[in-house]
Amino acid sequence: MNDVLVHETTDDDRTAVLAFLRELWGGEEMVVHDEVLRPAELPGYVAVDRGHLFGLATFRIEADAVELVSLDSLRPSQGVGGALLNRVEREAASRGCASVWLITTNDNLGALRFYQKRGYRIVRVDPGAVDRARARKPAIPLVGDDGIPIRDELVLEKSLPGVGQEETG
Ligand SMILES: CC(C)(COP(=O)(O)OP(=O)(O)OC[C@H]1O[C@@H](n2cnc3c(N)ncnc32)[C@H](O)[C@@H]1OP(=O)(O)O)[C@@H](O)C(=O)NCCC(=O)NCCS
Repeated sequence: MNDVLVHETTDDDRTAVLAFLRELWGGEEMVVHDEVLRPAELPGYVAVDRGHLFGLATFRIEADAVELVSLDSLRPSQGVGGALLNRVEREAASRGCASVWLITTNDNLGALRFYQKRGYRIVRVDPGAVDRARARKPAIPLVGDDGIPIRDELVLEKSLPGVGQEETG
């Protein structure tokens, strides 16, 4: 089960991507670091099985870093999240980016585990960032995983020395 079928998001995937994001995120807009983002309009990678989309990563490229804007897997512990993350890291490295960074929230212990095991470091904490985001997007739940109040944003970052150089495509 390690060979997860992942490909770059194409125009043909857009409808499925929008439906996926609406279902998981309660809408097309995401409010993070005091910004409103529309992940469906960003480049990304999808995990697809017989036409069914079960994983999605979206990202945006800045000067010398890639922001992983979203990462969602509907098939836990089958390598989907890891495969999508690898593709984003390879893309970042192939574009000469020095790092990949992302935001997660204080309640998301699963994501903190997942990313830290893959080389990400917590580089910043923004207390109250989710409270500010909720003022703009009231659909953001008050309580998250394990009954933990969702309040703060954590910035995680990974440096990418040489990632992707062994890959050919
Ligand atoms: C975080 C998230 C993306 C991880 O996705 P996932 O598909 O479960 O990720 P993977 O399967 O690649 O890895 C999860 C674990 O399963 C293990 N695993 C992978 N393939 C496996 C297999 N075939 N058999 C058993 N275990 C396996 C991995 O080793 C990993 O364990 P580890 O973290 O101890 O190394 C997913 O939990 C998710 O969508 N969460 C909700 C959204 C979210 O929080 N996103 C991130 C915040 S921005």
